Amino acid sequence: MTTIYEHDVIVVGAGGAGLRAAIAAHEEGADAALVTKLHPVRSHTGAAEGGINAALRDGDDWELHAYDTMKGSDYLGDAPAVEGLAQDAPEEVIQLEHWGMPFSREEDGRVSQRPFGGLSFPRTTYAGAETGHHMLHTMYEQVVKRGITVYDEWFVTRLAVTDDADPSERECHGVVAYDVATGEIAGFRATGGVVLATGGLGQVYEHTTNAVSCTGDGNAMAYRAGVPLEDMEFIQFHPTTLPSTGVLISEAVRGEGGILYNADGERFMFEYGYATNKGELASRDVVSRAELTEVNEGRGVHDDYVYLDMRHLGEDRIVDRLENILHLAEDFEGVDGLEEPMPVKPGQHYAMGGVETDEYGATCVEGLYAVGECACASVHGGNRLGGNALPELIVFGARAGRHAAGADLGDALIGTGRSGEVEEEDGLDLPVEPGATTGGDAVADGGAVTEAGSVVEAAVEAERSRVERLMERDDGVKHSEIRAAVQETMGNHVNVFREEEGIKQALRDIRKARERYEDVYVADPSRTFNTDLVQTIETRNVIDVAETIALGALARTEFRGAHWRAEHQERKDDEWLKHTFVTWNDGTPDLWYKPSVLEGEGGEYEPKVRSY
Ligand code: FUM
Repeated sequence: MTTIYEHDVIVVGAGGAGLRAAIAAHEEGADAALVTKLHPVRSHTGAAEGGINAALRDGDDWELHAYDTMKGSDYLGDAPAVEGLAQDAPEEVIQLEHWGMPFSREEDGRVSQRPFGGLSFPRTTYAGAETGHHMLHTMYEQVVKRGITVYDEWFVTRLAVTDDADPSERECHGVVAYDVATGEIAGFRATGGVVLATGGLGQVYEHTTNAVSCTGDGNAMAYRAGVPLEDMEFIQFHPTTLPSTGVLISEAVRGEGGILYNADGERFMFEYGYATNKGELASRDVVSRAELTEVNEGRGVHDDYVYLDMRHLGEDRIVDRLENILHLAEDFEGVDGLEEPMPVKPGQHYAMGGVETDEYGATCVEGLYAVGECACASVHGGNRLGGNALPELIVFGARAGRHAAGADLGDALIGTGRSGEVEEEDGLDLPVEPGATTGGDAVADGGAVTEAGSVVEAAVEAERSRVERLMERDDGVKHSEIRAAVQETMGNHVNVFREEEGIKQALRDIRKARERYEDVYVADPSRTFNTDLVQTIETRNVIDVAETIALGALARTEFRGAHWRAEHQERKDDEWLKHTFVTWNDGTPDLWYKPSVLEGEGGEYEPKVRSY
């Protein structure tokens, strides 16, 4: 028997973006439900430490926030989306405050703000160094209060999308999900819309700040259903992660005055001219490259990392504003941050690219929206500024939730910035064919299905047979080996520093991983809490998104933001002020481009040399 649950709006994922979308849809009068792989308060938003950018104070304004964001993006952010973020962030932060979020405050009671990398004004609001944790709990409380239905530990594995030849004519009718507790596979029909809010894809890399749950599920599902992935080559490597685990040491440490030293005790950001103005508070791509250059030139500690020192801030200030950092350094590295400098090195932290959407979260598939880290409304371009992820969650979460619930957005939708002429890529020298393999139906592509009117039922059946095939094998290749191989090649070749031959090697290795996945098997035969099965399904998503990252990285022959290329050491505005898109194209990926949008409300953002 097939169970089909029905709601107006189905939100997939219950981190910051998903919770905000569900609340917004509910406020619009829709019956909204959250379907989520994790219990909401275990979502990875809870690991966000440093803060939320919003222009709240005299002397600051949304234009400055937008300007900093465009510059930080290395002029690949789209102005309408960037301006929307900067304009809506203050209202959304005040909304959180009214819902009871325990922001850190000044003596006079005002919400505190601190400096963050690449900001021209200290506009990062925060709650200690646990901002995401408090944000998650504050919004979850609102979800509970409103009686919004939450299907937790239900892993959405497929979108129920019609199979029209042209993806822009497809419709999303709902999703299929796997109940981790019981093994049941059920359908969820959405009469209004489906909002993907599945978060990051950090598990494509071994050294990452992201939780093990961040496997690019929304990106991969949307991609296989025909929605383009945009700017996937832009991966952010955060400069301060603990070397042994990848656990994040917040930029807030540098925002409060923390200093980076090399093994020779030199304050290298200034000493070696990486950022003589902003120093440690240059944007993240700049600081990460500086740290690795120090290590590569022999000035790293144990040839691996550098030091981040906050001792001079004093115990009172550290405990007041950064207490969580003390615990993380002690628990994961055995270092007392009050007495010693902390070892840090760059680690994968964030995906700037994602599922292509307009500024209201809509994708090219009718009824399908995406928000938060899995989406690309084109706010972050080539490099996201620290403190801009959390406002993105609430600003675009709220917009997409309203949109999916059928709110009349009126003129807001007119002239959204996602037009522009499409340019096909046809000359890329690929070392292997990307995309689907020919054999092995265990990897049925999770794409579109026929039978309009029963699209959700058909999708459930397709997913059941995929899971049965995965479960019926009694030997083969373990997903963990395949995932480790992908992580290794991405870490070696599509990391902070990239060069053509390395990226091609990554594409070959990903191809091999795809072929090995044909023989993947699930060792655990159980139907209850079968994490082996869950991770096997996730690994397919990891392969798909890794390939799009490598394809974008090979195609973009310039150095912009976080995308550094050995053979192309300049930003090439004449050729590359454009976004990359990869479309699954039913298994034979296509690459194409569209210009970025620099025209904002007050005129054009002129690309300048990006110095800090
Ligand atoms: O460093 C941090 O606290 C991270 C913040 C962010 O990624 O926005």
